[in-house]
Amino acid sequence: MADGLKIGVDYYPEHWDKSLWKNDVKLMKEAGVNIVRMAEFAWSRLEPAEGEYSFGWLDEIIYLFAEAGIEVFLCTPTSTPPQWLFAKYPEIIQVDKNQNRIPIGIRGHRCLNSPVYRRLSEEIITKMVERYKDNKCVTGYQIDNELEANHCFCPVCEEKFRNWIIGKYGTTDELNKAYGNNVWSGEFSSFSQVKPPYGGHQQWLNPSHTLDYSRFASDSTIDYVKFQCGLIKSIDSHALVTTNCWLCENMPDFYKLFEKLDFVSYDNYPALKLPEDKETIYSHSFHLDLMRGIKKKNFWIMEQLSRATGGWMPMSQTTRPGMVKGYAMQAVAHGADAVLHFRWRSAVSGAEMFWHGIIDHSNVPGRRFEEFKQLCADIAKYSNIAGSQVKNRVALLYSSEHEYALKLQPQTEGMHYFGQLKLLHDAFASIGLGVDIISEKEDLSKYKIIAAPTLFITNNEVAGNLYKAARNGATVIITNRSGVKDEYNKCIMQQLPTLYSELAGVYVTEYDSIGSRKLKLDIINEEWHGKYNRQDNPYPYCTQWCDLLECTSAVSLATYGEDFYKGTAAVTHNYYGEGNVYYIGTVMDRQSYISLAKVIADKTGIQYIDGLPSGIEITYRYGTDGRKMWKFIFNNTTSKKEIFIDGKNMEIGAFGMEIVEIEINMSKEVME
Ligand code: GAL
Repeated sequence: MADGLKIGVDYYPEHWDKSLWKNDVKLMKEAGVNIVRMAEFAWSRLEPAEGEYSFGWLDEIIYLFAEAGIEVFLCTPTSTPPQWLFAKYPEIIQVDKNQNRIPIGIRGHRCLNSPVYRRLSEEIITKMVERYKDNKCVTGYQIDNELEANHCFCPVCEEKFRNWIIGKYGTTDELNKAYGNNVWSGEFSSFSQVKPPYGGHQQWLNPSHTLDYSRFASDSTIDYVKFQCGLIKSIDSHALVTTNCWLCENMPDFYKLFEKLDFVSYDNYPALKLPEDKETIYSHSFHLDLMRGIKKKNFWIMEQLSRATGGWMPMSQTTRPGMVKGYAMQAVAHGADAVLHFRWRSAVSGAEMFWHGIIDHSNVPGRRFEEFKQLCADIAKYSNIAGSQVKNRVALLYSSEHEYALKLQPQTEGMHYFGQLKLLHDAFASIGLGVDIISEKEDLSKYKIIAAPTLFITNNEVAGNLYKAARNGATVIITNRSGVKDEYNKCIMQQLPTLYSELAGVYVTEYDSIGSRKLKLDIINEEWHGKYNRQDNPYPYCTQWCDLLECTSAVSLATYGEDFYKGTAAVTHNYYGEGNVYYIGTVMDRQSYISLAKVIADKTGIQYIDGLPSGIEITYRYGTDGRKMWKFIFNNTTSKKEIFIDGKNMEIGAFGMEIVEIEINMSKEVME
């Protein structure tokens, strides 16, 4: 099968009359499709009754794709157990926090810890992988579909959680100490009293307990993925195995989830309504950078936006001309080696009939199909980009620990963990600097700038790495709500930012949670002041959160311009070892971040692009032999943009992508 970039669709042969299949395959072939994904929801068609299998139809369609030279990526169909299975084994259905079995509907809702579900999953997966292990056309498997770290409260989960707690704490004394259970007489005298945090009064639950339950839920999902991956590889050791993730309510720890998998895949549904969409302009690139950082290697897009989304909510507007092609190429620019569009044809039945595909209900190929064809041609043209790598000097640290803890205890109105990360990502993207979003525990030695926002749950290893990075000359950025909690989600009895005070050279003497209020921010640092673009925003402000900072070794760069703390430091700079440390004690307007990013880049000695039009994204991929690189210039907006780059003027239409191939001569060491 093709070694180069892959382009394809998600196809659901089980939804269509067989008479359509041949023509679908022919049209895909003509368009330039080289891969399809199938079967994640087809369990009832593959096993209509327990132990009775029906793979003939799947053989037939795989044969048609094989004949056309199109690669097939199958999915384990465990995401939608059939109705016969729910009826026979109701114990596999998740239980909600009020102790009710969730109404089963027709999708999801199974408990990943259920032994019966695991047995039945094992049986269907074994049948599938054994059947196709020697089929050259089938190259790998997607495990299930968009697995979440569900919070299930069934008896199996209760028992497993208790054992998880025993494994972690050993004795009830240790557990009571870790949780601070002396508050509200919460002390356990026996592990048999430990239960998952259910009940209708979530606000009264101990956050140490609820954070552990989020961790347990994540571990359960990871364990399920390991089970499926191990099973598939034990039958077909050559098969590629992945699972498709998205940014859902309960995200598992991605770094552990993908540990044993071959690569990351992501379902990419960028904003359709620009620029009014609530997310900032570089938000989709943030998601792509997050995905690449999970395994620090290239990834696949298993589902890519094709047209209007809808179903359970009013439909969005359709994909504007250029979006189908542009958003797919944007994913490539950030490290995707495969893009599969969801879905070939819009469904005519079922809950998602208005979540449209490349081809409409009418089955008449239209505007989007034509654009998709052009995309396939571009992918073929640039096929040798596959395998080349994205390399950046700016890192942004992420951890699901902070995500869970901040969801359990929101700190102020409007503040979200991802929002905090996106502000910094957006600032560097706006000046043409690529960002690697990586685990907070990752090796930092390659990076010149390390943005580490909202380190809410402290971890000694993470703190140690940041001190070391600064000592060795890196620039570190820390923000408000860092150093707040210990690993058990209890507050630390020290002045904030506790573990990070010495690094940042500041203390927080008090803080003010101001929610949606906006306060004037006085940028007192001349350089920063000079870089602030007042056309973009007339005056700097801060919102959501105000740390009142006292500098020990740091100097103030900006102060609060109003309220009883007028004149108090809000943003600071400190020298630590050979490096620089910035502390951002508040949440600022976008222009403040962008202009500060310029100051930081200058101080660190990294070149950036001044005057890059808003929404233009620049990224690079480097060939593994060190001889070639590709520069991607993407217009992430609905209007034409003019830019001056590399000494010439360039015009890029809405969602347009310019790819410049550049000969280089990089040593092997640099490439590594
Ligand atoms: C994805 C999911 C698909 C489909 C799509 C449209 O998140 O994996 O199966 O549901 O969304 O809603």
